[in-house]
Amino acid sequence: MNKGRPTTIVIFGASGDLTERKLIPALFNLFRKGRLPENFKIVGMAGTVFTTESYLERLYQKLQQHAGYTFTEDEWQRFSGYITYFTGRASEVEGAQSLADSLAVLENGVVNRLYYMATPPGVFPDIIQSLGQVGMLAEDEGWRRVVIEKPFGTNLSTALQLNKQVHEWLHENQIYRIDHYLGKETVQNIMVARFANTIFEPVWNRNYIDHIQITVAEQVGLENRAGYYDHVGVLRDMFQNHLLQLLTLVAMEPPISFNADALRNEKVKVLTALRPLSGLEVTRNTVRGQYKGYAEEPGVDPKSTTSTYGALRLLVDNWRWQGVPFYLRSGKFLTEKYSEIVIQFKTPPHIMFPMRPGDEIRPNMLVLYLQPNEGIHLRFEAKEPDTVADMRSVNMEFHYKDSFGPTAVPEAYERLLLDALQGDASLFTRTDEVELAWRFIDPIMRTWEDLGMAGMTTYEPGSWGPIEADQMLARDGRYWVRGCQLC
Ligand code: BG6
Repeated sequence: MNKGRPTTIVIFGASGDLTERKLIPALFNLFRKGRLPENFKIVGMAGTVFTTESYLERLYQKLQQHAGYTFTEDEWQRFSGYITYFTGRASEVEGAQSLADSLAVLENGVVNRLYYMATPPGVFPDIIQSLGQVGMLAEDEGWRRVVIEKPFGTNLSTALQLNKQVHEWLHENQIYRIDHYLGKETVQNIMVARFANTIFEPVWNRNYIDHIQITVAEQVGLENRAGYYDHVGVLRDMFQNHLLQLLTLVAMEPPISFNADALRNEKVKVLTALRPLSGLEVTRNTVRGQYKGYAEEPGVDPKSTTSTYGALRLLVDNWRWQGVPFYLRSGKFLTEKYSEIVIQFKTPPHIMFPMRPGDEIRPNMLVLYLQPNEGIHLRFEAKEPDTVADMRSVNMEFHYKDSFGPTAVPEAYERLLLDALQGDASLFTRTDEVELAWRFIDPIMRTWEDLGMAGMTTYEPGSWGPIEADQMLARDGRYWVRGCQLC
């Protein structure tokens, strides 16, 4: 980390859940690892009235619940000395001006500043505008960067509008749009697995791969977020961002360098190549579901047509992937929490071994376990000992905890905060990526909304989701794989 110019991290929405559960624990852990800039300050701002002392007391309690690591009193005392809290509304020019004045006193010189928008999304544009109007975004001396949380817009037109608003005050290279999935070690490792090894890339195409499945299953339900979720649903909450990002990393061509634009150029090409789904195509290639009892949840409209589960069948129209389906699924209240990518290879073209009637050769499978139990598994066939040529599937396994230690995988926010501080935007989404993702999702969303409850499937909480998602794959002669059952 650059030990030079002092850096201030300003968090808007400092009394909110994201700050308390993710940002402060990540910053504290970076501090414990000695990775924050030598001369840094953290300034929290929110409308809730706190003094710095009362804010720190609250943070301390929250850290004990959410840090996920143990820390000493001494570490906390040292870290908390860098934190200041201001009560105020940065979305109003007066609030921004008063913040600017207070920072000038606190910083007393030229600094870099990272502004983190941990507020509800409706407030981002106003905060950015107020900061702009009082001169807090100008890069006359130190740099000014803005981290923006998802959701970035609610559809294509609001995303375009939001991009326009932020570009009035910021250059694209000052904007860091977060998708926390990109901060996960295992997600970054998709690139390393593909491009730092020679054995995968030659088979990573339509000649060898039968299809790809991407699952992000959640065990939790609404977690007191009904007010947000009921307006959003699974497509906006998970597909437009996390699942499409995973797809781009699996499907993209090798970038020419590990540089933010080279990488994002390749991801953009994948999004451009997605075959659009609209109208009838949507009904054939998607399944949407709502868990039973959703409409009775507190805060949910009793007539809600919001989907809590989605499954999509996608095609990527380019040379590498022609004809290879990508099946994506995600939902709330499923049997267990896990995210994984299954690459199912084709079966051998000819079997020379004697097979019993009804036996079939099982295809090779490479499974990238994103969470939990992070790792990679390769399923292949082996001869069963002491038989003529009976075969059985066996697994080669790599687990992060075995190779790198039980606590080796950090929280996604640590990586992302560090990268934003260092000016590396590789793991953040660019304007065109966000817009293309919405361009793809929008017509699906519209069809789902037009259909209302018609075509909505239901599923039991704690199940694997609607049976119709299985039927969608069965129509292609395939089935969903729970990869970790192989391990
Ligand atoms: C968030 C969604 O972006 O991702 C949540 O808004 C979801 O609804 C969460 O629960 C899942 O993230 P993770 O890291 O727990 O898989």
